[in-house]
Amino acid sequence: MIRKQSIIVIGMFLLGVQGLMAQSVLDVRINKPLVPVSPAMWGIFFEDINFAADGGLYAELVKNRSFEFDQPMMGWKGEGVNGGKGSILIQNQNNISPNNPRYATVNVNANNGAFILRNEGFRGMGIKEGAQYNFSVMGRQTEGWVTMSVHIIGSNDKEIGSVKLLSFSSAFQKVSASITATATDAKAKLELRFTGTGKLDIDMISLFPADTWKGRPGGLRKDLVQMLDGLKPGFIRFPGGCIVEGKDLQNRYQWKKTVGPIEDRKLIMNRWNVEFRAPRNAPDYFQSYGLGFYEYFLLSEDLGAEPLPILNCGMACQYNTAEVVPLGQLDPYIQDALDLIDFANASTTNEWGKLRADMGHPQPFNLKYLGVGNEQWGPQYIDRYKEFVSVLKAKHPEIIIVTSAGPSSDGEHFDFAWSELKKLDAELIDEHYYKSPEWFLKNANRYDNYDRKGPKVFAGEYAAHGKDSTVPESRNTWISALSEAAFMTGLERNADVVRLSSYAPLMAHVDAWQWRPDLIWFDNLVVAATPNYYVQQLFSNNKGTHVLSATQNGKPLTGQDSVYASAVVDSINKQVIIKLVNVTGSEKPFVLNLQGKKNKSNTTMKVLTADELYTYSTVNSERIRPKEVVLGEKKDKISLVLKPMSVNVIKAALK
Ligand code: AHR
Repeated sequence: MIRKQSIIVIGMFLLGVQGLMAQSVLDVRINKPLVPVSPAMWGIFFEDINFAADGGLYAELVKNRSFEFDQPMMGWKGEGVNGGKGSILIQNQNNISPNNPRYATVNVNANNGAFILRNEGFRGMGIKEGAQYNFSVMGRQTEGWVTMSVHIIGSNDKEIGSVKLLSFSSAFQKVSASITATATDAKAKLELRFTGTGKLDIDMISLFPADTWKGRPGGLRKDLVQMLDGLKPGFIRFPGGCIVEGKDLQNRYQWKKTVGPIEDRKLIMNRWNVEFRAPRNAPDYFQSYGLGFYEYFLLSEDLGAEPLPILNCGMACQYNTAEVVPLGQLDPYIQDALDLIDFANASTTNEWGKLRADMGHPQPFNLKYLGVGNEQWGPQYIDRYKEFVSVLKAKHPEIIIVTSAGPSSDGEHFDFAWSELKKLDAELIDEHYYKSPEWFLKNANRYDNYDRKGPKVFAGEYAAHGKDSTVPESRNTWISALSEAAFMTGLERNADVVRLSSYAPLMAHVDAWQWRPDLIWFDNLVVAATPNYYVQQLFSNNKGTHVLSATQNGKPLTGQDSVYASAVVDSINKQVIIKLVNVTGSEKPFVLNLQGKKNKSNTTMKVLTADELYTYSTVNSERIRPKEVVLGEKKDKISLVLKPMSVNVIKAALK
């Protein structure tokens, strides 16, 4: 029933009249590569929204590990058990340690029983049976004699791992121990158990899985990075998004505060903490910067992606305070950009290059792109952009500057930005569109008529936002992914104009999200790909090197008879790759006419489809994933049938 309704819906709103079962022909000229596809074309947009960093990619399990949240005991709870007593006093030594001023004095009176301090984690802690967890604390004993043991407690309040710590000295020092878990639990807690009588000062209380991405201590959650790796992203844009701008300038992202020893990285409130009302608010959302700029560069390198940092340009979020730095006073902001280029690319004799080396990476990161401002608009943006670009281009002509077209796909701000930026010979303009599936279908030809001589496009944030039939918010439904795929054939066909593109946002915690849809959903133990993820993957893993002409009756296929197509050749792997998206509710017989193909060769087809337009996957059930069909040895004519509502990638070897 739902399926029938869905087909009617898509038929009415999206497709127009559908043809009979006549065979359509797509002519692909395989010997005439048109324009190159940027090797970085299909990338990812990372923003610390939806608990994507703390509580997500950054594998730390302890929330508020050094009591620096606005409410210092948020996430922590102390209580005496079995006759033991104790209390916590939060101390602030701002004059000695301005970036990490607070620590806790635990006053223990527990010759009998114990005083316990529990941390709830990020909506619990994901613990896996048999896995090792590394605990550490900065601590010192100031009075009496107190012992401390560390316990992982399951959601049923039973212990699933523990270790007794060595004693503390009278000076702050790091004490570490590891625990092997005896059970799996997505909502475990950490418990510190104090016995004896006396006082202990503690700070930087940390619990990490030993099995992080590449086994790096204090590193990233392995399963989440593996999902990113599966996309083979051409670039990683970081750290956002509105997070770059901040609600006000004080709250902006400052990369220098995110590098160096983690205990010196100054925590700030995450701007998504207060942006939305319950249930999407997140009073416990802060940025510890354990995932900072060094880690972003390293991740980009690990994944073979170009790093694409976006920096604040002296403007706070225009949806919030819209504060700006007065013109002529932007020097510190511009200096941050210059220093970032040094941090990424300079030799180790340079101050910032040396910091990179001290952090473990003497080799440069080969930064090529830099964004000035996120989603800014208006003359105030152009004025500030001019100040930035004049200095940056004079000192670093090799860096490609990314500029903003504002928050919408069209309209006053968009037109103003484009006309001004064209006059200024901008290189790469960042366009954002969060629109309906219908918009994505209608805009599959958006770039066909863009000026070939003007600035290039970075489709930097996009996602089809549909409405779920049963809940008010959007989800990652099949209709959203299908319409994005149709649209992406237009990005690919216009790869001479669209040099980079990324879906947004990237990640969301199922119990702590602020914004949806998102490309990847996870809980504390499991990660799941959305249909939109697979669409991105089908394009990014099959990007090719050059665009080919792919036409029906001499015209690009941009929705005629509700089918969308693009084609590329991969001159390195010697393949021709054709993408065909069928958005009707019926099968579509097609003949691919590969003009110029002289030999038979192995041909395969990957198909992504679903029976219902509003189906979506969850972390417990991935309902939509691609299947591969072997088409066999084919020469220049390939007959196939496109399934209803399907994304299809056909690959033929070229000898
Ligand atoms: O992707 C979520 C938000 O959407 C980004 O932070 C911002 O750039 C855009 O408005």
